[in-house]
Amino acid sequence: MKLTDALRGEHAVLYELFAYLDETIGRSDDLRDLRGAVSVLERLLVSHARIEEDLLFPRLEPHIGQMGPLAVMRTEHGRIDDLLEAARQENDIAALKSLVGQLLQLAYGHFRKEESVLFDMAERFLGGAALTEMGEQWAASRNVIVKGQGCMATH
Ligand SMILES: [Fe+2]
Ligand SMILES: [Fe+2]
Repeated sequence: MKLTDALRGEHAVLYELFAYLDETIGRSDDLRDLRGAVSVLERLLVSHARIEEDLLFPRLEPHIGQMGPLAVMRTEHGRIDDLLEAARQENDIAALKSLVGQLLQLAYGHFRKEESVLFDMAERFLGGAALTEMGEQWAASRNVIVKGQGCMATH
């Protein structure tokens, strides 16, 4: 599996979590509810961004340079981190909801740019073989079995 496909799959799961947070903002005034949901979001978003920064961005840099899309993506990762940090410190429910709203909007726009611009560039410049090898590194870091040993097979 190509790394870009794995990352698109992670986006798909995160969209479900974004929707859950959006619903939570709308229906709950319980600070603990929202905090719990935000900490799950933080755990997933931070590990997702780390995989992109460790596996994808350095390999793309020789082809597209540090500026342009990579600079935008890195800046947005930083802004997402800052909003997560601010959310962790916030004790007022209305202010926390507003921070989470900003965070969801930023993360959604960021994901869309990656899907429509950056991953497309990666596929164009790096090619299938390199992306598949990077997909294996992704599987190892996420502890996912990509090539099974046939343990489900019947004899
Ligand atoms: Fe990203
Ligand atoms: Fe991403």
